[in-house]
Amino acid sequence: MRVIHTIGEMRAASRAAKARGARLGLVPTMGALHEGHLSLVRAARARSDVVAATIFVNPTQFGPSEDFSKYPRNLQNDSALLEREGVELIFAPAVEEMYPAGAITWVTVEGMSDRLCGASRPGHFRGVTTVVAKLFNIAEPDVAFFGQKDAAQVAIIRRMVRDLNMPVQIEVCPIVREPDGLAMSSRNSYLNAGERTAALTLFRSLTRAEELFKSGEKDSAKLIAVGTKEFDSEPAVRLDYFEIVDPDSLQPVLAVERPALAAVAAYLGKTRLIDNILLAP
Ligand code: PAF
Repeated sequence: MRVIHTIGEMRAASRAAKARGARLGLVPTMGALHEGHLSLVRAARARSDVVAATIFVNPTQFGPSEDFSKYPRNLQNDSALLEREGVELIFAPAVEEMYPAGAITWVTVEGMSDRLCGASRPGHFRGVTTVVAKLFNIAEPDVAFFGQKDAAQVAIIRRMVRDLNMPVQIEVCPIVREPDGLAMSSRNSYLNAGERTAALTLFRSLTRAEELFKSGEKDSAKLIAVGTKEFDSEPAVRLDYFEIVDPDSLQPVLAVERPALAAVAAYLGKTRLIDNILLAP
């Protein structure tokens, strides 16, 4: 396994792999790897010949008062995990390598980047699409793997790839959960014991909405009401949004007649967590 820090070396390594006829799978991450990330790597292993993972805490997707500086970073530990999973290439550039002074170009998916997390984290998805476009340009993967937990991110990246004719296939892997249902996230490590217990409210709220949906209720307002009600009894959790949206456009749906995404975000202290579930008639 090679750990690469420069764009030139990464591009040369991926081109060399592709010149040998290998199908290159890319797993973009910000490090602090958990089982959710490793499930992406395993999917990449199964569906490509050479797997590259990127580890880059991308400053442009964090707001000024967000956790960029305290986001967990442990390249050594992450590299060991990735090596064990059979990753051949790790691309771990410095911020200055990815954003040299004077860089002023952004990739924005208009009309979607301000939906869901984009509403409370202005500029977040613009940072995501810009860095993912750059990673695709650098590594030139045949296929890239993302987790369903960031469902809005997935929809926005798919749209970027479609609109900009990027020659990469996007694969989405299911959410990996802790045994009690909490969606795995690098930010779960910020939670104290009380917050960890209260964090289950997110999954519970989605489960309640899903139960009501399965009992025949299609009206989004009623499904949202039962989901948000879960937060009334948990003062430690501050609901950001609970929405039911079209999984491709991220626009709200009034009634779930086709598969729709129930998506939730909430704060536990300063930690912001997200989760979602697909409601499929
Ligand atoms: O999902 C993430 O970890 C990040 O948003 C990504 C896709 C690696 C871009 O920085």
